[in-house]
Amino acid sequence: MFTTRLLMLVICLAIPSSAFPKRQMGSISPYTPNIGRSNGIYQIPSTLYNGSSKAQFDIQTETSTLDTSTLLSLDAPKLDTINASVFDWWYFDVVSETNPDVLLTITFFSSTAAAFPFLFANQSSPLTAWIWASFANGTVFADYVPATVATLTGVDGTHTEGAGIWHETGFAWGASTAPQTRYEVTVASEKLQVHGRLGLTATVPYHLPCGIQKEKSILEIAPHIGWVNLVPDAEGVVDMNIRGSTLSFRGPGYHDKNWSDRPFMESVESWYWGHGRLGPYSIVWFNFLALNDTTNSTYVSSYVAKDGNVLVSACDASLLTVRPVGSPGTTGGRYPPMAGDIPEGFHLDFDLGEEGHLLVNVLMRAVVAGDGEYYVRWTGDLAGEVSRSESTLRGPCLPSSESEQGREDALIGVAVFEQFVVLE
Ligand SMILES: *[C@@H]1O[C@H](CO)[C@@H](O)[C@H](O)[C@H]1NC(C)=O
Ligand SMILES: *[C@@H]1O[C@H](CO)[C@@H](O)[C@H](O)[C@H]1NC(C)=O
Ligand SMILES: *[C@@H]1O[C@H](CO)[C@@H](O)[C@H](O)[C@H]1NC(C)=O
Ligand SMILES: *[C@@H]1O[C@H](CO)[C@@H](O)[C@H](O)[C@H]1NC(C)=O
Ligand SMILES: *[C@@H]1O[C@H](CO)[C@@H](O)[C@H](O)[C@H]1NC(C)=O
Ligand SMILES: *[C@@H]1O[C@H](CO)[C@@H](O)[C@H](O)[C@H]1NC(C)=O
Ligand SMILES: *[C@@H]1O[C@H](CO)[C@@H](O)[C@H](O)[C@H]1NC(C)=O
Repeated sequence: MFTTRLLMLVICLAIPSSAFPKRQMGSISPYTPNIGRSNGIYQIPSTLYNGSSKAQFDIQTETSTLDTSTLLSLDAPKLDTINASVFDWWYFDVVSETNPDVLLTITFFSSTAAAFPFLFANQSSPLTAWIWASFANGTVFADYVPATVATLTGVDGTHTEGAGIWHETGFAWGASTAPQTRYEVTVASEKLQVHGRLGLTATVPYHLPCGIQKEKSILEIAPHIGWVNLVPDAEGVVDMNIRGSTLSFRGPGYHDKNWSDRPFMESVESWYWGHGRLGPYSIVWFNFLALNDTTNSTYVSSYVAKDGNVLVSACDASLLTVRPVGSPGTTGGRYPPMAGDIPEGFHLDFDLGEEGHLLVNVLMRAVVAGDGEYYVRWTGDLAGEVSRSESTLRGPCLPSSESEQGREDALIGVAVFEQFVVLE
């Protein structure tokens, strides 16, 4: 079984890297970081580099699709070294398809709190494995373990199986991109008293910030923010034991990684991101305003797949509108937002071209992470519809006067989403 194979791979990789057989490099990747890489293995140390770190913000794309080895190379570290002001991390989640209050998120960080202030300043290593588990009764478990070193394998563009291990944490993932893209995140932490797995089987193709572009595709979703979305939607399965409580469920799953060559707070004025599934549609949204941006640009990335086929994977700002919706008498619906503006939902308008517009209302359910002021991560319900008429660009919950306008039946689903709003 695949799961067993990945588990074996993860277990095998937990042995010292000197035990790896020497491998021939099949090809030279366009970017050759010196983050302790040899034979396609990357090691990220827990000591910070004192000097300039260099980030990778594009990849060569000679063809219109990524082959299975190139795809896995998107998981490689995107900084050549980790200094105190940069970050590089790997994110996984699954939300329950029957009860969106239930969510598991696991993130593998290489970042200081100076680079990403939502980490703890007292962490003993920039390498940390974090877990957030949200139970049906509203209890959220959040904790982390520091790692001594992180190892990534199979991500040099010549393999279709890979792994990431945050050593001494009990957290690791295994990946396989052929014949299907699958991930298996395993946790065996005595320290946190957490054991189990999070599995993803991708149901849709990958997403880059602007899709695949001719010859060279950008990975910079907004100034200084790198992002690749290897798994925009997946059949997710969670089987965990958290301090004696069982957390077992299935639902939409997701994996991305993001990075930057400067502190998060020097880039962001506001940031809306989310992913979900409603009916046959898998969606990912990103809407960003940069700090002190004299051009007032809106950075977006839009992804919509229907029945596993990509309809949109692009960054043209006209293709997606994301707006907060506030309760009456609050500033929750203000846009552009300011710190402390807490919406009760979002309205999304995805332009699908000839297919019309996918209009989605996002309604908050559980708060699963954040400080409630500058940063909140939620789960929620989705309700939407496809509008094929140019003249019906309005919220899907408003009554329709043109019932013959070619609307599909109401679509419902679940989502995971967040906002960072730092403008005071
Ligand atoms: C970093 O390097 C600079 C210049 O070489 C040096 O002055 C500084 O003390 C170093 N900082 C640390 C924390 O080692
Ligand atoms: C880390 O690298 C970034 C990007 O090159 C650079 O701007 C920054 O000054 C570096 N930080 C340190 C502490 O050297
Ligand atoms: C580290 O800081 C966090 C947040 O301020 C606090 O909750 C935690 O107890 C601290 N841990 C240690 C070991 O001091
Ligand atoms: C909620 O569920 C969790 C996990 O089963 C349990 O640890 C916690 O005590 C429960 N909380 C309440 C308030 O019932
Ligand atoms: C960036 O990282 C955060 C935190 O891990 C994650 O929630 C989000 O999905 C990522 N998204 C983008 C667009 O960078
Ligand atoms: C952004 O602008 C404000 C006010 O003009 C200034 O105080 C702040 O230092 C600027 N931040 C950055 C990262 O440039
Ligand atoms: C940018 O937006 C702000 C606030 O919405 C506005 O005051 C300002 O005039 C805009 N600047 C430009 C160049 O459009």
